[in-house]
Amino acid sequence: MCGIVGYIGHRDAFPIVIKGLERLEYRGYDSAGIALFDGNDISLSKTKGKVEDLRSKAKEISQAGSLGIGHTRWATHGVPNDVNSHPHYSNSGDLVIIHNGIIENYESIKQALKDRGYTFQSDTDTEVLVNLIEEVQKTEDVKLGKAVQIALNQVVGAYAIAVFDKKKPDEIVVAKLGSPLAIGVGENEFFIASDASPFIEFTNNAVYLEDEEMAIIRLGKEIKLRKIKNDAIAYPNILELQMNLEEIEKGGYDHFMLKEIYEQPRAIMDTYRGRLLADQGIIRMAGIDQNIEKFVNANRIIIVACGTSWHAGLVAEYIFEDLARIPVEVEYASEFRYRNPVITDKDVLIAISQSGETADTLAAIKLAKEKGAFVFGVCNVVGSSIARESDAGAYTHAGPEIGVASTKAFTTQITVLTLIALKLAKEKGEFSQSKFHEYLSELETIPAKVEKSLLSNDLVETVAEVYKDSTNCLYLGRGYNFPVALEGALKLKEISYIHAEGYPAAEMKHGPIALIDEQMPVFVIATKKGHYEKVVSNIQEIKSRKGKIIAIVTEGDEQVKELADHVIEIPETLESLTPLLTTIPLQLLSYHIAVMRNCNVDQPRNLAKSVTVE
Ligand code: AGP
Repeated sequence: MCGIVGYIGHRDAFPIVIKGLERLEYRGYDSAGIALFDGNDISLSKTKGKVEDLRSKAKEISQAGSLGIGHTRWATHGVPNDVNSHPHYSNSGDLVIIHNGIIENYESIKQALKDRGYTFQSDTDTEVLVNLIEEVQKTEDVKLGKAVQIALNQVVGAYAIAVFDKKKPDEIVVAKLGSPLAIGVGENEFFIASDASPFIEFTNNAVYLEDEEMAIIRLGKEIKLRKIKNDAIAYPNILELQMNLEEIEKGGYDHFMLKEIYEQPRAIMDTYRGRLLADQGIIRMAGIDQNIEKFVNANRIIIVACGTSWHAGLVAEYIFEDLARIPVEVEYASEFRYRNPVITDKDVLIAISQSGETADTLAAIKLAKEKGAFVFGVCNVVGSSIARESDAGAYTHAGPEIGVASTKAFTTQITVLTLIALKLAKEKGEFSQSKFHEYLSELETIPAKVEKSLLSNDLVETVAEVYKDSTNCLYLGRGYNFPVALEGALKLKEISYIHAEGYPAAEMKHGPIALIDEQMPVFVIATKKGHYEKVVSNIQEIKSRKGKIIAIVTEGDEQVKELADHVIEIPETLESLTPLLTTIPLQLLSYHIAVMRNCNVDQPRNLAKSVTVE
């Protein structure tokens, strides 16, 4: 997820664009850039780092110009560095573009353009797009707007773009598919941005482009809206925004954590986009494809991680052993690095880290590499230390996770690990084509099922009200949902400061059941798929000791409803995919309890988003 900003009007563009980028930094912050146009010359500056680094670097360029575009990057293709930062020029230097999104078929387009003599400075999909637009302009002899439209009908992926042509100083062309784009409409001036925060102080009037819409924005003229696919005229719906700045950065949510919980359907879809090709019956992951023998012939897979990422690793242990029949060992990175582990070159080590900067996980990787293991990184931050230290990897395209409590990172990590396990299961012949296809098709339904699970929010809020003053809580799960119980307990602990423990449900009778009384809420994951009858027995054991039971059940469950004090339903899915759904109500529960306890949800006490020290 990146942030884009643009301006065309009667003011100096530089301060508007720079300040707008600062307001969008929550969308991505690994590099930033700006291009200004004074009607004759284009001044462009871009840099790895934050917008404040751009502000100082931009002192080297002329800051004149009443047309400007800017970009703060969340890298998806190409590591964060100056040359991969946006904006990008076309080969002629006449066109300049900024882009938020992913062009999935950029490699084939890039090769075709190379064959026609185009050269490329960066590794990005965006530089390919701007040169495709230039090539169309030349070969079709059309203006910028038509060239953008023709080019976008050749790309596959997601985009919010702004592009201008040196030959047309009073015009900016924008287009949207999958990534947000708002146009601020002022008095003889227009603003462009990923959300309204860069222009809300100048105008409350905004047009939000719909998917597959583009707009030609010309000074002194009405916005010209078109459908990209068929050039049909669309009519701008100008909204009068009532929001304030703070709300807009959080997308209207009260906290980044809640926003990120609700982003999970989109984040999971972005994570499998371009990788899960269910209709073709394939999973495409370059990092696995190029190293498939190492995985298939591995003695075992060692997973190292911390916190929530460690819980995702536990889920992966069930998935890899159950589906791909590969032995897996999950280790706390902090323990692994110091216990003098036995590691050989027949081991594959998977490091899971949202930030890609966790010191213990990074140290574990280095130890494993010294001992000859192959290291595969699953990170959310492109170009992060762990990503760079790994021999290969796969990014979770969750977008920046601002809330300290990991939510969308957890579900997108599980998504990536599930794709890997399914790919290996197929490669090893553990899966028939039909069983493989069944899993691929079900995985494609998960974003909609997460959306449906989120509908339990109001019910979860009423449950939170009942238990918000508890001093201790227990979370129970079995099988695939045992790690979800641990994760649910961690979420509650870290943002509401209530002590909570996760346990395998069957483990209760080996001691913890002594804790059960009327003051102890027990959150039990009791989905139909996954040792259901045994979990029901555990629930009965708790009930007979007057424990309070809040159960996460498969929709339509009637049996647990008779036993539990509260039930929260989630849609049915395959057993190995239930963690992607059962975690949702537990995320919401911890969020609401923390809010009711007036805790700092996004920045809980004593915590940091990335633990870069031991
Ligand atoms: C989870 O909510 C916490 N923020 C924390 O446990 C986190 O998962 C852990 O520090 C690992 O971080 P990483 O995924 O960035 O490596």
